[in-house]
Amino acid sequence: MRIPAALVLAAGLAACSQPVPPAPTPAQALALAPADPRLAALYGESCKACHAIPGTGAPLVHDRKAWDPRWKQGEAVLLDHAVQGFQAMPAGGQCAACTPNDFNALIRFMAGREDPAR
Ligand code: HEC
Repeated sequence: MRIPAALVLAAGLAACSQPVPPAPTPAQALALAPADPRLAALYGESCKACHAIPGTGAPLVHDRKAWDPRWKQGEAVLLDHAVQGFQAMPAGGQCAACTPNDFNALIRFMAGREDPAR
């Protein structure tokens, strides 16, 4: 597939103007939550227990260095790994109430990708 040069240029410029933000400190990681209250509750009861604590082996919330290589797999793979489990990641992420859309939104939030432009 050919990608128009203008698109490549635009993507390149966007990447340059938005450098990868630094990883949150442990205190910042603990304080982060999705903006949506329902998602924030789901997150607080499940993903947060591992993904907001450095040293658990889970990619830290908003740590783009940890998430970017995983994000490259694509959202479908990440959703599959959240639902089915992946190595030390437990199936369902201990969130029985999460729908596939919830998982996708939680993954986008943790990966620092809520803003589709990033
Ligand atoms: C009991 C701890 C724990 C909980 C709770 C947890 N995770 Fe994880 N998660 C992990 C660990 C550990 C990894 C790293 C797995 C690896 O790469 O070995 C991980 C990795 C992931 C990945 C990346 C998978 C990949 O392909 O690289 C996704 C996506 C993910 N978790 C989503 C979630 C979501 C969404 C929730 C909440 C609904 C959640 N996790 C809750 C421990 C947890």
